[in-house]
Amino acid sequence: MVRHFLKDDDITPQEQAEILELASEVKASPYKFRPFEGPKTVALIFDKTSTRTRVSFTVGVADLGGNPMVIDTGSSQLGGKESVADTARVLERQVAAIVWRTYAQSGLDEMAANSSVPVINSLSDDYHPCQILADLLTIKEHKGSLAGLSIAYVGDAANNMANSYLIGCAMAGMHVRIAAPAGYAPAENVVARAEEIASTTGGSVQIFTSPEDAVKGADVVTTDTWISMGQESEKQKRIDAFAGYTVDASLMSHAKGDAIFLHCLPAYRGYEVSAEVIDGPRSVIWDEAENRLHAQKALMIWLAKQAV
Ligand code: CP
Ligand code: NVA
Repeated sequence: MVRHFLKDDDITPQEQAEILELASEVKASPYKFRPFEGPKTVALIFDKTSTRTRVSFTVGVADLGGNPMVIDTGSSQLGGKESVADTARVLERQVAAIVWRTYAQSGLDEMAANSSVPVINSLSDDYHPCQILADLLTIKEHKGSLAGLSIAYVGDAANNMANSYLIGCAMAGMHVRIAAPAGYAPAENVVARAEEIASTTGGSVQIFTSPEDAVKGADVVTTDTWISMGQESEKQKRIDAFAGYTVDASLMSHAKGDAIFLHCLPAYRGYEVSAEVIDGPRSVIWDEAENRLHAQKALMIWLAKQAV
């Protein structure tokens, strides 16, 4: 049966663990798995800009024996000219999977509803689930395991990264601690879903306004840009709202002595994170960026296997 990956909990906690195991195997033997032998083509559609996602999916599909086809929405009929459903019906006849970076989550739902091949969310306004798989792989590599660890996310908690951390890390049995100013807390339905998942995995969810309270004793500290793609017109308002939420050395001193720092990138030094922290010894951002490749390859291998 075809499976899609539109949000973190489109897979079960057990399946997440299986994909992460597979990612380590793929990392050790990059050319061993050939689900796209043929080569079969994978469509990589971008409504928003990208460096890591474009590179890691292009390299990943090629590594798996396939042909990556990047489609920038501006040069296609998608986006106002042709419906998502009709686009899905054209693509499913010719490609082995559809990877889409877009705005509304509802577009992904529509694409998946009309596609007989797997649809993967490579970032929407609501979720960035591929990034969280890479982050979990990175944490596992540095800490040995995931369940029972605490992760503190500081900053814009009403965005795609915060939502995916809440759901994805709760699935891994982690304690998710969020710090955000008023007006930028995560949506209630996302928190409720993360809590529901955490109650089955031994994880937990706590929402704070104080960055120090969230970071206290954390194993992992992370943040994201204060201005996500599509929010550029709110730049100054957001910079003002997030004053005091920069992850700097003083904030990091509240975490465990061996805490690591993650950032999905691109980063804006001096805003959500200081240069001292992101370029310092606790930062594992380059491992994290590389792990996009391995985690997504594992995801594509796994999804291809479910479809047979
Ligand atoms: N982290 C991430 O998705 O980066 P890009 O926007 O460069 O793809
Ligand atoms: N929250 C950011 C993530 C970038 C990878 C954005 O959506 O722009």
